[in-house]
Amino acid sequence: MNPHKWSRMASTVVVGGFFGDEGKGKIVAYLAMKDDPAIVVRAGVGPNAGHTIQLGGRKFFLRMVPSGFVNEKALMLIGAGVLVNPKVLLKEMEETSTKGRIGLDPQCAIIEDGHIEREEKSVHLSQKIGSTRSGVGACAADRALRIAKLAKEIPELSGLLMDVSGKIHAALEGGKRVLVEGTQGTFLSLYHGTYPYCTAKDTCASALCSDVGIGPKDVGEVLITFKSYVTRVGEGPLEGQLPREEVERRGWLEYGTVTRRERRAAPFNFELARRAVMLNSATQIALTKLDVLFPEAKGARDYRELPAKAREFIGEIESATKIPVAIVGTGPGLDEVIDRRSDLDG
Ligand code: GTP
Ligand code: MG
Repeated sequence: MNPHKWSRMASTVVVGGFFGDEGKGKIVAYLAMKDDPAIVVRAGVGPNAGHTIQLGGRKFFLRMVPSGFVNEKALMLIGAGVLVNPKVLLKEMEETSTKGRIGLDPQCAIIEDGHIEREEKSVHLSQKIGSTRSGVGACAADRALRIAKLAKEIPELSGLLMDVSGKIHAALEGGKRVLVEGTQGTFLSLYHGTYPYCTAKDTCASALCSDVGIGPKDVGEVLITFKSYVTRVGEGPLEGQLPREEVERRGWLEYGTVTRRERRAAPFNFELARRAVMLNSATQIALTKLDVLFPEAKGARDYRELPAKAREFIGEIESATKIPVAIVGTGPGLDEVIDRRSDLDG
């Protein structure tokens, strides 16, 4: 070990394992409370992803502000790779009272109304691909062409600009925790997903690191989030897709956070899970919505409280992926979690 680096911390990266909407938002919010990170930094594509956080009696829908905002002591950051819609950001900052503890990289590309209009007019994007029409595709294209505006050119954002990667590295160097929050999921990746039915960027763990300006050596855990069944919004293949009536009968019917469109659903896909673990070098799993599959699991906070069938299911996931299910979601609330991480140590 390098003696100069002994106190340096490694970051935790939270990545989606399927097609997004696995519940990363709630997992990040839980970790932000539990692990007390100094920084929670949003990576990923942009406001085409929506996280839902249930806090006390309130529900927050977040498309720009990091889900870690629930920890009032933590600094919220948005990495240079994220496409930013200033209107959405400023509105959410108001709703989450994060003014004064949020910053974005001067090099974030800016989504303008023209980007949204271009996507709405594009039959390919809005009809064939089923995009969320939030302008990320057009903005990502402009960025690749080097004609997109950057955050540092926008006066309304001037008070929010920060050296995001610099802040992250200073925190890690000082032995503090950093949580990197991904959006969407592995199989929506522009490179590794179901092209052309995918998003405008890579969404895997290494892309999330690049979004915020950290290298692979600064990552400790890659926590991959799987839902207990698979859902997909928009177009594109979904193996094992169930008829709508069956989805409803099983209680798996969900609606998109951004578009309110109905999500299609299929049973848990072990083969996809295995591949996602490989593509992300995932080290641990967060399994969400176990309570939807096994209602007796609702609200459980200890592994031993789970019904035998639920524990069997967890075992099957672990033997298929060869990594541990470290965190289990047993309800939408932040306290409806089983945290097995301390059992995994040593
Ligand atoms: P993207 O970044 O768009 O991929 O979103 P996401 O992964 O943060 O998920 P999203 O919030 O879109 O959808 C997850 C939904 O499941 C939300 O409504 C959460 O409140 C809910 N949820 C998360 N975990 C659990 C859980 O363990 N049990 C139950 N019943 N609901 C959960
Ligand atoms: Mg979502």
